[in-house]
Amino acid sequence: MADDQLQTLLAELDALKGAFEAAIAEVASEQDLERLRVKYLGRKGELTLLFKRMGSLPPEGRPAFGEALNRLKSEFHERLQAARGALETEETGDEALDLTLPGTAHTLGYKNPLLQVMEEIREIFISMGFTVETGPLVETDYYNFEALNIPADHPSRDLQDTFYLQDSDLLLRTHTSPVQIRTMEKQQPPVRIIAPGRCFRKDTPDASHSPEFHQVEGLVVDEGISLADLKGTLLAFARKLFGPSIQVRFRPSFFPFTEPSAEYDFSCVICGGKGCRTCKYTGWLEISGAGMVDPAVFGFVGYDYEKYTGFAWGMGVERIAMMRYQIDDIRHFYDNDIRFLRQF
Ligand code: DAH
Repeated sequence: MADDQLQTLLAELDALKGAFEAAIAEVASEQDLERLRVKYLGRKGELTLLFKRMGSLPPEGRPAFGEALNRLKSEFHERLQAARGALETEETGDEALDLTLPGTAHTLGYKNPLLQVMEEIREIFISMGFTVETGPLVETDYYNFEALNIPADHPSRDLQDTFYLQDSDLLLRTHTSPVQIRTMEKQQPPVRIIAPGRCFRKDTPDASHSPEFHQVEGLVVDEGISLADLKGTLLAFARKLFGPSIQVRFRPSFFPFTEPSAEYDFSCVICGGKGCRTCKYTGWLEISGAGMVDPAVFGFVGYDYEKYTGFAWGMGVERIAMMRYQIDDIRHFYDNDIRFLRQF
């Protein structure tokens, strides 16, 4: 009789175990898991209630039943613990890594088109035998103006055009020409350099003006250098950058640091010189200024102007980038709009 009772209870334990197994296989979340724990191991849980029925057994049956109950209880605990661990790894994905899934593509950054064009310009001049020089963005009045033969009353020295640093002789360079002076001070001819870099002027931003902009300066000094060398150099450069049909023209101009001075244009890269909106129907696009180095400048750096001649030019990088990519507003370069930048 006592044995029958024990067998019945053990059979109930078996059934409980079966039900628990089935339920834990369905668990999909922490909440499911907690519900299961309460259902079986909680204060009024099914296993807990079976403990209470131990008293209904005759004393000799109790140890066996108690042992079976305890074994099942720790088994349930272990199973719940393991299921919790499995849920956590699923969440962090540790072991659920599926190597056949497509990867997450990380987008690379984009180089500003100005930088790209500047690199192109550098490479071309390097291939023509030039070396690259740089100079400080914060300059002295001497290098930015005086040694370039720019007189004290020249309009470019005006407070309205130049960013001066308060209470000092310092300013933000308004062009890359001071690098000419710095180079000639430290080296004797022959000189064949370019100087790319940022410049600053107090311009109100509009489609063709930006208070920050870039230039590439060029300087060649040696015995017997002529205006023809200047024109040949600029023509060779223009053709390497824009193709063999580009033409270069000079228009007479004035700069304090060159004599004679010129402004130079490239034939329009859009219409090939026939006339279009970009070149305002002139067939030409203005690039910058150039000329033969004024002997007065050689005087400032101690070069013998009886022996040496040289030429120099400036080049607006923004302007060239705008021609290259047909960009109609200089401000795009500085807006940092990713939709603009990712096109290059
Ligand atoms: N520095 C001039 C400017 O910013 C450009 C320039 C003109 C540079 C003539 C030169 C030059 O080297 O010879 O407008």
